[in-house]
Amino acid sequence: MKATSKITELEHVAIIMDGNGRWAKSRRLPRVAGHRAGVKTLRNLIEHSVKIKLNTITVYAFSRENWQRPQSEVDLLMNLFISALHSEVKDLHKNNVKLNFIGDRSTFSGQLQDSINESELLTSSNNGLCLNIAANYSGRWDIVQAYHSIAKDIESNSMSIEDVDETVISNKLSLAVHKDPDLFIRTGGEQRISNYLLWETAYTELYFTETLWPDFDAKQFDIAIDWFSKRQRRFGKTSEQIERTQN
Ligand code: FPP
Repeated sequence: MKATSKITELEHVAIIMDGNGRWAKSRRLPRVAGHRAGVKTLRNLIEHSVKIKLNTITVYAFSRENWQRPQSEVDLLMNLFISALHSEVKDLHKNNVKLNFIGDRSTFSGQLQDSINESELLTSSNNGLCLNIAANYSGRWDIVQAYHSIAKDIESNSMSIEDVDETVISNKLSLAVHKDPDLFIRTGGEQRISNYLLWETAYTELYFTETLWPDFDAKQFDIAIDWFSKRQRRFGKTSEQIERTQN
């Protein structure tokens, strides 16, 4: 099978944008300068993703564990989210990008919640690239909230225990309507999932790069996509079975 036809199998990319702090430190800049540079990188990659007609990108902007960072950095990140949403949302809308936030937004300031709600509403009928932003999200939190929702359905007799299967659980998760990620990219050199899309990455191809997020450009993204195109996705089957269906 040609690499180009494999790229068409790439619909959903999940990204951990790591390395902003180290990028700033190496330039003797405050950490927030790294996060600002990170926003620029994200904007460039969104433009590139629109160009190559990717279906969905899901980025980890703020985990539930990130609240443990110094309060000053948390405050700066929250302000950056508000200002980035204000400055980018019109262009995203013009590019037919649909914004969708996953995670518990109820703990954010009223101003940030308003910005999130407005950006989702403005872009709700777009049908181009879907940009999911995970904010105050973690994979385990998502599984717990799905469990609560299923338990309530059982308690109210709208579902029985026997009805609960993988599809039911998937449909209760934050990314329910999306296909599972095909490709996961983590920049910044660490090789872990960090409580990201735990359920959804069961068969995702995992790509790790030393490149710090602010330096991760369209060319690097294409390298990751090219790596993905060479992977044989077996989903539990043998290579021979996969090759037989491809010929
Ligand atoms: C991890 O790098 C990065 C973050 C915790 C924040 C990522 C957020 C953005 C790039 C902004 C996105 C904006 C919107 C509106 C979606 P790190 O600080 O852990 O870097 P380090 O490991 O080098 O310290």
